[in-house]
Amino acid sequence: MATIIDGKRISQEIREEIKAETAAFAQENGYLPGLAVIIVGENPASQVYVRNKKKACEEVGFYSRVYELPEDTKQEDLNALVDQLNADEQIHGILVQLPLPKHLDENEVLLRIDPGKDVDAFHPYNVGKIMIGDYSFLPCTPAGVMALLERTGVDIAGKKCVVIGRSNIVGKPMAMLLLHANGTVTLCHSRTKDLAAETRQADILVVAIGKADFVTADMVKEGAVVIDVGMNRRADGKLTGDVDFASVEPVASAITPVPGGVGPMTITMLLKNTLTAARMKN
Ligand code: GUN
Repeated sequence: MATIIDGKRISQEIREEIKAETAAFAQENGYLPGLAVIIVGENPASQVYVRNKKKACEEVGFYSRVYELPEDTKQEDLNALVDQLNADEQIHGILVQLPLPKHLDENEVLLRIDPGKDVDAFHPYNVGKIMIGDYSFLPCTPAGVMALLERTGVDIAGKKCVVIGRSNIVGKPMAMLLLHANGTVTLCHSRTKDLAAETRQADILVVAIGKADFVTADMVKEGAVVIDVGMNRRADGKLTGDVDFASVEPVASAITPVPGGVGPMTITMLLKNTLTAARMKN
C-alpha cells in the first residue's frame, strides 16, 4: 500500500503559514501583498483557474484584482495594461493566464512583465535565474511538487529522478529543481526511445505529459515515488491524471492522487511568490 500524498492537506498547511506571514507583513509595512491576474477570452478551464486564484488571495489576506479582457483584445492594449500594472504600487505580482487567444503573442507579453513582479517565473530573466539555481521566484507547479516531496519526507539527493514532459511551464523547470536538490535527473519526452526502460529506473517519477492514465504499473519500479502533474477530463467527465492510479498505486511507495495532489499546490506556490514579490519591494 502506497502512502497517498495529500496535496489538499499540505497545501492548506502552507496557506495557513502564508496567511500568518501576510498578517505579520501587513502589520510591519502597512500594506498588503497585491496580485493582478489578467485573463483574455472565455476559455472555461482558465476561468476556473482564475476564480480559484482570486479566492486563494482572499483566503490569505492579499489584495487582488482580476482583469477580464475580451477575446478580440489587441496586443497593444494588453501590452499597455501590463505597463500600467508594472508601474502600479499596489500590485507586486502580475500573472497573465495562459493560453492566450491565438492572435496574441505570448512571448511578447511575458517579456513585458517586470521580472520583479513575474510571480509565474516565466520571464526569461527568471528562467535564467532558475537555471543557475539562484531564484527568488519558484516556477509554481514544479515548486509545488518539491514542497510535496519535502513535506512527505522524500529525500532527493542521489536519487534517480525521471521527468516525463519537457514543457517550459513544468518539465524543464522541474528537472532543474530536482537537479539542484542533487537528484540524478533524466528528462523524457515524446521522442524518447523505450520510455518504459527509462521510467522503470526512477526512484522518483514525475509525470507531466497531458495524456490520461498513460503511466501503467509495468512502467514503474517497485517502491518508487510517483508524482502525477496531469489533469485530464475522461469521456465520462471525470478528472484523471497522467498516471493510471489503480494499477500504479500498489507498486509505488508513495503517490499523488488526481484531483487532490499537485493541483492545489500550484496556486499555493503562486501565493508564496506574491508574498516574496511584496517583500522584495522593500
Ligand atoms: N495556464 C496553465 N497553467 C498556468 C500557470 O501556471 N500560469 C499561467 N499564467 N497560466 C497557466
